[in-house]
Order: sequence, then C-alpha cells, then structure tokens
Amino acid sequence: MSSRVVVVGSANADLVVRVDRHPSPGETVLGSDLATFPGGKGGNQSVAAGRLGADVAFVGLVGTDAHGDFLLESMRGAGVDTGHVGRVPTATGVAVITVGADGDNTIVVSPGANAELGEDEVAAAAPLLRDAAVTSMQLEIPMPAVLAAARVARRVVLNLSPARDVPKELLELCDPLVVNEHEAAFLLGEAAAGSPVDSAKALLDRGPASVVVTLGAEGAVVAEPGTVTAVPSPRVSPVDTTGAGDAFTGALAARLADGASLTAAAAYAARVGAAAVTKEGAQSSFPRPEDVPPAG
Ligand code: RIB
Repeated sequence: MSSRVVVVGSANADLVVRVDRHPSPGETVLGSDLATFPGGKGGNQSVAAGRLGADVAFVGLVGTDAHGDFLLESMRGAGVDTGHVGRVPTATGVAVITVGADGDNTIVVSPGANAELGEDEVAAAAPLLRDAAVTSMQLEIPMPAVLAAARVARRVVLNLSPARDVPKELLELCDPLVVNEHEAAFLLGEAAAGSPVDSAKALLDRGPASVVVTLGAEGAVVAEPGTVTAVPSPRVSPVDTTGAGDAFTGALAARLADGASLTAAAAYAARVGAAAVTKEGAQSSFPRPEDVPPAG
C-alpha cells in the first residue's frame, strides 16, 4: 500500500454552462444546457490522487442535500476514504462555472458547508493527519482550519487557490507551496517581476521549504534551496481546463507520499494536469495511471 495522502478542503457541485465567449459585466449571453459535475478544489485533489492509486482520505464538510450525496459518491468511486467527511444541515458548496470555446473558465463559488469547516473537525482528524505522509490543502475553507491542519501535518502541500493572504506561519510550513502565475503575482505584490523562475525564487524567500509555480501548457518551475528546475507539459488540445490545477496538486501529493523527489513528482503532475484538460468537468476528467500521457 502506498503512503497515505490526506486532503483537507472544499467540496462543491460544479454547475457548468459552456459559452462561445464569456459575458462582460452587464451582458447576457446564451450558453449550453446546464451540466452538473463533482468538484471543489479539495474534493478534486482527493479524487485526482485516488484515481492514480494513492491511499487517500478527505477531510471536509458537505450538506445533507443531494449535492452532498453526489460528491461523496464521486470521491468513493475514486477510492477516497470519506470517513472524515461531515454532513451539516446546510447547502453543499456550489460553483457556478462558464467554460469558453478554448476550454478556459470563470468560476464563482458559494461555499455553503465548506464555510463551516473549523478547528474542531481538524482536531477530530488529527491522528489521520499525523500519520499521513502528505497533507494537501487549498484555500476554499476557513483559514483557521487550514492552519490547524498544517500545524499537525508531517508534510504540507498547499495550493494557494483561490489566492488570499496567508499567515507567514502557514507559508513556512509549506513543502511545497503550489501557485500559478496569478497566485504568485498576488503573493509577491509589488515584488512580482520577471520570469516564473524569478517568481519561484522570490517566493522561496518568503519562507516555504519549496515552491512549485505551475504554467499550464508550459509545465511548471520547481524551486528548492539552491536549485530551480523547469518541468515540461505534454501538448494537448484543451476542452475544459476546470480542475487542472487540482489534478496537478493531487498527483503531486500522491507522488510525494510515495517518496518521489519534488522535481519528479512535479513532472508527473504536469502530465496528469495535461490529461485533465482534454475532457469535460473536473473530477470527471482526471486520469487513471494508464491514461496519463507520456512526457512531452
Ligand atoms: O479548481 C476548480 C474547482 O474550483 C471547481 O471544481 C470548483 O468547484 C472550484 O472549487
């Protein structure tokens, strides 16, 4: 059995409409029929890792509604241990998503049950977190829960998505901090300058033990003290980019838990992220090991 990954985070039902082009503020456009997919950055990370064969558990909250059932079913279908998913008498998180002709998206999240995840739920899962080789997180849940989990975890993988301010203590617990270029610019503020390599180095100076800057079709940059390495992504035709970053982070966590180096884990994660953009939806697009494309 592979070493355990625990994902602490959000679970959302993704309500998706495809559009020829995204509306401007104040504008109405007509789109496709509505499709509902299982999503949420935390649920997505757990399903990505589970589908690749990792031993993974998810810690989070869903509502007592049909969306909650739907999300639990998707996670269990990918082999995710949902024993630490609580159900609360409120609406499950929902994401309203438009996907454009190029596969690019806009996402608005209504957190619902995710907003109730707190230190109590994390404390109940503390033995799980202490045992896990890797705890993977994102920022669609309240910061006290993220910080509490990071304090007990053996190794923290944090995707700074959606971008928001984080305490220095949390940054210093990350190994790695995973950001895309927008999230890197958000964290660096006026210090943001130059290439992704420059950003990765500048972020490393903010305290994480390591940094991964994801670059979509261009792969990723991995920064560790003294070394910066670029990893490629295979060329694919994008259908829907929703959840690609979560697929990357879930795969990264799974590989790290198995003992891979950060660079090797990121190289594999870039291939998993590439596969994820070739199909519709988030969790519905994540590959099994045999469907991961070869290195590009
Ligand atoms: O990263 C993609 C995810 O962001 C979607 O699945 C949506 O639920 C939001 O959390």
